[in-house]
Amino acid sequence: MEKKFVQDLSVRGKLVFVRNDFNVPLHADQKIIDDTRIRAALPTLHYLIQNQARVICTSHLGRPKGQVVPACSLAPLAERLSELLGQPVMFCPETVGVTTEKAKAALKNGQVLMLENLRFHPGETKNDSAFAVQLAQNIDIYVDDAFGSCHRAHASIDEITRHVPVAASGFLLKKEIEYLSLAAETPPDDYLVILGGAKVSDKLPLLSHLLEKADTILIGGAMAYTFLKVGGMKVGASRVEAECLDLCREILRKGAEKGVRILLPMDHIAATKIEANITVRIIRPGEEIPGEMMGLDIGPETVAQFQNEIRRANLIFWNGPMGVFEVNTFSGGTTEIAHALAAAQATTIIGGGDSIAAVNQAGVSERISHISTGGGAALEFLAGDKLPGIEALTEA
Ligand code: 3PG
Repeated sequence: MEKKFVQDLSVRGKLVFVRNDFNVPLHADQKIIDDTRIRAALPTLHYLIQNQARVICTSHLGRPKGQVVPACSLAPLAERLSELLGQPVMFCPETVGVTTEKAKAALKNGQVLMLENLRFHPGETKNDSAFAVQLAQNIDIYVDDAFGSCHRAHASIDEITRHVPVAASGFLLKKEIEYLSLAAETPPDDYLVILGGAKVSDKLPLLSHLLEKADTILIGGAMAYTFLKVGGMKVGASRVEAECLDLCREILRKGAEKGVRILLPMDHIAATKIEANITVRIIRPGEEIPGEMMGLDIGPETVAQFQNEIRRANLIFWNGPMGVFEVNTFSGGTTEIAHALAAAQATTIIGGGDSIAAVNQAGVSERISHISTGGGAALEFLAGDKLPGIEALTEA
């Protein structure tokens, strides 16, 4: 069954419940650190406002576990959204009940109301149908634009779709599905995947799925050392997940069988500690990492090799940093990859916080075809999993 898209619906005068993912990083004083996810929601909201819908924005923030936790209030986000939209965003301190219904009823065409954190109610994460029925009360159209939360079968994402007259995707969700489907299902030839990050165990399901799709996989970050150890290299004190050695061996074997090139770092920036001012050593190709040292970034020859692969690809998906990116001394490899992606001819897709931070820091985010707003959701989608939020829209 086809999913509906908000642009195909007549929204004038309709009460539209938009599920956003405004789960943004905040400072302790609730100042927003990064508002990318709020900005990404604007196309749908602009569309609804311009077309005279009565708009309700909803989201979770953090994990308040069914309790009212003031530090997780959405009130500061309503303020930021109001600045970005250039019009007032009313705020309702509840998600369901009498006050909420009054606020919904008072909404005029083109106005926006934001409800409080959905996770202040215990029914949200339990996918509770009584809560979903309350959320759906008087709603004419449900719009899911919360790609980052689509891997959660929660009341405002899944169950609510069974209690509203119409459910549709928003502009952001549609764009995410289009780009990520290209990477997960129908990639062109010369499909390059770049994976990094600390834990190989997090990426194994993704790697297994990508072996069916990718032509070349570049592996960097600490996760590379479990693979290098499988190949017999002495990796010193680098992070190795002993319980994943067999699975990594299997992935290398399958890759060879299917003709997928899996390239591991051939040189390394190593040090004895993860500290900004520590003395580093470049471990050249063929050398071993001394016992007390850890590989903490990819070395210059690996950077050059990876850049070369990036130049030749038609489609590139990147998730995870190439080293300990948050410490300057070990961020060079990740930054080089960010620049190479920006200069590439290929369609480029990035998912995951650190890789996104890297392209932002390098000032090249405008030159990336698609930066996914989903962390866990993007990885599950790429691993070929069905996401409850997307499935619910298909069924609705
Ligand atoms: C995310 O940031 O990945 C989403 O907003 C989901 O949040 P959660 O992991 O707390 O469910």
